[in-house]
Amino acid sequence: MLMRILILGGTTEAFALAGRLAGFTEFHPLLSFAGRTGNPRQVSIPTRIGGFGGIHGLERFLADDGVEAVIDATHPFAARISRNAALACVQAQIPLLALRRPPWIRQQGDHWIDVESMTSAAEALGTAPRRVFLTIGRQELHHFEAAKQHIYLVRTVEPIGEALASSNVIAIRDRGPFDEEAERSLMEREGIDILVSKNSGGSATYPKIAAAQALGLPVVMVARPDKPADVPTVTLPEAALEWLRQLHERTP
Ligand SMILES: NC(=O)c1ccc[n+]([C@@H]2O[C@H](COP(=O)([O-])OP(=O)(O)OC[C@H]3O[C@@H](n4cnc5c(N)ncnc54)[C@H](OP(=O)(O)O)[C@@H]3O)[C@@H](O)[C@H]2O)c1
Repeated sequence: MLMRILILGGTTEAFALAGRLAGFTEFHPLLSFAGRTGNPRQVSIPTRIGGFGGIHGLERFLADDGVEAVIDATHPFAARISRNAALACVQAQIPLLALRRPPWIRQQGDHWIDVESMTSAAEALGTAPRRVFLTIGRQELHHFEAAKQHIYLVRTVEPIGEALASSNVIAIRDRGPFDEEAERSLMEREGIDILVSKNSGGSATYPKIAAAQALGLPVVMVARPDKPADVPTVTLPEAALEWLRQLHERTP
């Protein structure tokens, strides 16, 4: 019997799991994207794009699509979809596993300013004008409109459009994985004084953190939002695959 699996994606780990699942004939997986990037990476399993319509929309989708297991491999900062998935899966009595990479841990020599929100991140830049490397994606850039005295080098996957209304913006577009040497050169060339980053974890975007340390630059590090605590969680795609295989074996 083919097992129908919904992977809530948007991360490197979701792509890795999707790639692994393509080789297993007992699974019938579907990878779901929020649709935040116009050009998602190619993957060898079927995909869908866009929200489900809240918890009830997700519940309906799970029933209509015959989903038998859900893997929440969403971005560590995508808190709403994880909450919705936890509630919908309890309601529908469908097994749910979170695939979540661990956060970065401060290393010796790091100068991190820890904050809990984007509002606090903007405040942490201080009142004196600085050249800021802003690497938080596009959706929350508007918080930095409260600190227009700074010059922002903003790097995003998608164009920022009107997301940050300030005349002091240099926008660049790029998608990881990044390289430490290149990150260092970029920060030196642009005369960066401080980096702002989400604590996303993983290796693809860590080189900016390593480069900041090497250059002796401070990093405003935004802590992750809470995700549902009572969901079984693994950190590696292989562990998620093993969980699915065991679930498949137990399913009559
Ligand atoms: N989503 C990503 O791929 C992604 C990637 C990198 C960074 N982030 C960061 O995460 C933070 C919040 O992002 P967000 O708005 O995407 O997440 P969110 O606030 O958790 O989700 C908002 C809504 O988007 C839809 N959604 C999210 N992930 C989905 C998925 N995999 N498949 C289908 N629908 C999905 C859901 O809509 P319905 O309620 O209608 O179902 C959800 O309620 C931001 O800081 C963002 O930069 C997200």
